[in-house]
Amino acid sequence: MSALIAIDDAHWFVRDQGRAEAPATLLIHGFTGCAQFWDAIVDRLTPEFRCVTVDLAGHGQTRVPARIELYRLPAVADALARVMTEIGIVRAHVWGYSMGGRLALQFALRHPNRCDRLVLESASPGIADATERANRRRADDALADRIEQIGVDAFVAEWMAKPIFAGQQALPQTIRERASALRKQHTAEGLAMSLRGMGTGAQEPLHDLLPSLATPTLILAGEHDPKFRAIGAQMHDQVPNSVFRIVPGVGHAPYWEAPERTVSLVTPFLNGDEPPQLVDEEG
Ligand code: MLT
Repeated sequence: MSALIAIDDAHWFVRDQGRAEAPATLLIHGFTGCAQFWDAIVDRLTPEFRCVTVDLAGHGQTRVPARIELYRLPAVADALARVMTEIGIVRAHVWGYSMGGRLALQFALRHPNRCDRLVLESASPGIADATERANRRRADDALADRIEQIGVDAFVAEWMAKPIFAGQQALPQTIRERASALRKQHTAEGLAMSLRGMGTGAQEPLHDLLPSLATPTLILAGEHDPKFRAIGAQMHDQVPNSVFRIVPGVGHAPYWEAPERTVSLVTPFLNGDEPPQLVDEEG
């Protein structure tokens, strides 16, 4: 089913797929993504798992009032916990990609009793260094202003041309066009609010809390994404109950670039087994 779920004065677009009795898995998209970005993953995870996908604040069909405090990571994490309650889910596995990975981490730290197993894909705990964080915040704010100036279509074209997504040029044209069309459904105001509220520069860094994270955690990074491989390795050192796996042959978005390969790592992990090692982590 898909539904708009009211939480206070916001409406959250939620899709709930798979058998109701199967273990629930919440899938959280990245910046400019939406629930449909997970379709290839949902196809592979159901019926073994019940898959819940949402449109985040500022994205897709979700409507959150334009108050910046509602776009902060802790507020969005709390809203997701309430969405889960509304659809009758007490505990779920949580898998977040990029911005959604930062949110998934926040969720697991704030709601440890609601999170069974955590998958952090191309994610970070924020930026620890105050100067670097302030610089990133300025850059994200400038990007938010730019979205409002040039509009969503032009922004999406610029965004997808970023070097971090270079690997996606090799994907079939239909898949690239689908990504572009899905990203263009957003509003400039929504994307700008998202960047200002939950951009990497705006978030409180979570590094100090990583050693207290008891949730079993799978950290994923693409083979050709050196920045997030390095961040992933650092998080792995800090999170006690974590495994770190590299997804071969892909860049920043393993779940999108190679859904089959990514699921071959995630499914065993969600079942409590050791995920296979497809690439030497040190290599
Ligand atoms: C993010 O920042 O969340 C991602 O890089 C978004 C994307 O895939 O475009």
